[in-house]
Amino acid sequence: MKAIVSAPGKLMLLGEHAVVYDYPCLVTAVSSKIKVEIEIISTGIKIEAPQVKDVSFVEESIRFFKEKFKFKEGLSIKTHSEFSSQYGFGSSSAVTVATLYGLSQLFKLNLSKREIFDFGLEITLRIQKVGSGFDIAAATFGKTLYFITGGKKIEILPIDELPLVVGYSGVKASTPKIVNQIKERLRKEKGKIFGIFNKIGKIVEEGKDSLLAKDYQRLGFLMNENHQLLKELGVSTAKLDKMCEAARKAGAYGAKLSGAGGGDCMIALVPKLKKSEIEKAIEKVGGEIIKVKNNANGVCYER
Ligand code: MEV
Repeated sequence: MKAIVSAPGKLMLLGEHAVVYDYPCLVTAVSSKIKVEIEIISTGIKIEAPQVKDVSFVEESIRFFKEKFKFKEGLSIKTHSEFSSQYGFGSSSAVTVATLYGLSQLFKLNLSKREIFDFGLEITLRIQKVGSGFDIAAATFGKTLYFITGGKKIEILPIDELPLVVGYSGVKASTPKIVNQIKERLRKEKGKIFGIFNKIGKIVEEGKDSLLAKDYQRLGFLMNENHQLLKELGVSTAKLDKMCEAARKAGAYGAKLSGAGGGDCMIALVPKLKKSEIEKAIEKVGGEIIKVKNNANGVCYER
């Protein structure tokens, strides 16, 4: 018996870092996915995962599942990613969610998406120790979500695909490392950092309304404000700043880094007619354009 399932990567629209501390964020699932093929075999566990980082998340998902559902069968698992783990699209979360969903299908457990999310969060926290779980939510539910830390709230927003341009800065960042740096700063400058988080929280609430009203002008402005606050947090880089600036100058409604910072990607919200001009402007300052759709579907059974 065999199951092939896939789960999407994600892009943070607004609210990174603050969302680790009980604030909301907006996240969208991308069309690039991780596929996982799971087969029951007579004995042992065989894992083939070309993205080395994926192996520990697959192993931990199986360990978790064995503890919870007490199965004894052997398993063969192969993963295949449509995107590089360098981009910061959340490959670890996507592979965790896909593995759990595949196991649920294979053993006919019929787990709900909420259960997949809760288990996925527990597994990634066992490995990474830190994180809000927004990436697990995006991989599980897909679409564009209003999300509060740990899944206290997960709301699917009834919107269409957003006109986004995505640029990779060429530098791979370590999310747990940057999240821990912020934790350290919080110990020393609590008032200042929570001041920034409060402002980010307000931006997310307003961003949600702008998104629902399709007010891209306002949403773009809020993205710029959010980027400025992330700069104040010290997580942006000269390259990300340059890419965002180039996008704005070429006519984007707004631009910001997306994710933990320190590298990875930036996003720009763009008028459709200016898209290619904006892409060229980002490339001119050394960014790599990544073609992905957003508001994509969550984890699903392929066959
Ligand atoms: C990283 O992509 C986003 C952070 O907010 C971490 C998290 O929410 O888990 C920095």
